[in-house]
Amino acid sequence: MGSEIVHIFDTTLRDGEQSPGVALTVAEKLAIAHQLNRLGVDFIEAGFPISSASDFEAVQEIGRQIDGSHVAALARCEAADVEAAARALETSSNPRLHVFIATSAVHMRAKLNLSPVEVLRRVDQFVREARQHVEDVEFSAEDATRSDPAFLAEVVDAAVGAGAQTINLPDTVGYAMSNEYAALIAAIRRRVPDGITISVHCHDDLGLAVANSLAGIEAGARQVEVAVNGIGERAGNAALEEVAVALSARFDHWGLQHGLRLEEIYETSQLVSRLTGMAVQANKAIVGKNAFRHESGIHQDGMLKDPRTYEFLDASSLGQGSHLVLGKHSGRHALRERLERLGIAYSADDLRHMQRHIKAVAEGKNSIDDQELYGIWEQVSRETAGGRHGS
Ligand code: KIV
Ligand code: ZN
Repeated sequence: MGSEIVHIFDTTLRDGEQSPGVALTVAEKLAIAHQLNRLGVDFIEAGFPISSASDFEAVQEIGRQIDGSHVAALARCEAADVEAAARALETSSNPRLHVFIATSAVHMRAKLNLSPVEVLRRVDQFVREARQHVEDVEFSAEDATRSDPAFLAEVVDAAVGAGAQTINLPDTVGYAMSNEYAALIAAIRRRVPDGITISVHCHDDLGLAVANSLAGIEAGARQVEVAVNGIGERAGNAALEEVAVALSARFDHWGLQHGLRLEEIYETSQLVSRLTGMAVQANKAIVGKNAFRHESGIHQDGMLKDPRTYEFLDASSLGQGSHLVLGKHSGRHALRERLERLGIAYSADDLRHMQRHIKAVAEGKNSIDDQELYGIWEQVSRETAGGRHGS
């Protein structure tokens, strides 16, 4: 029997685009959607059509142009929302309508001003309505992790009874601890009939979004909602690249497959960063500038002897090259490697002099690039030639 699959539901263009300060044009959303399709995500959540004309158009256009990944659109439990999402999805050959309503006491009372009974009624009504438009309907219980578990169970029963095939349990405000989230997912999974997919959607307010998503997967979720570079509301969503690479790199632990072409991950991250204007922090796992760079002499020495000493991930299979950084902490091994890669001939003497220069130059900055290294080499060559003439 083959291993089970975890479906990757990418929400970069919906939750990710809700990041403060981010506003993508339709053309930019299309560029990202094509790259997500190349990456191989199962679902692209393309937008929230009722929220703006440009969200509507983006869902429509992405649906028209993308035929690998399925295309999802978000709707509240409101007639106009479901109608708009359904219309925007008409162009798509694989549409998914994603209906949601909040189920925690604070959201129902303060935000929706609805009683639990009314919320239950709406779940039934609007999931049914969504199913009249499209075959594939996902239901999300917003703020599931702060909802009363007994009420949440009733809501899930109503959504499944009305025809939702995917039940998403978001940790909307990033509140849950991993073991709590796993217990919630396991309980709901036991409750729903076979054939219903449980989905996880975690926010990073406590820095736990990826850990919680993985805990949910361990407890039986088979869809994970993620965003490239972890962008999204407030502290963001679980990072697509971290979840996917954790599943692949530790297949020995998970025994679960996903459909991503990981060699596209770096390109995807760069594109999203460029178009959203949200920089990727240098030490970000998988896609950060420093994720596969080594500066200290001991680490560089280890890497040159056997890269497995300090890297268990293969950078090139993730679209990134591994680099030894020349800086004030680097040793002779890394310098030799770089000079050889640049085709620079050197003597033992040159090497010693260059190291001295590198340490001086790197004192006030981060690292030495190839151009600067050429400059140092030229200077050292002049000095050693001068020294030789003078002796
Ligand atoms: O965080 C959340 O609860 C959401 C839902 C709309 C799925 O983004
Ligand atoms: Zn969210």
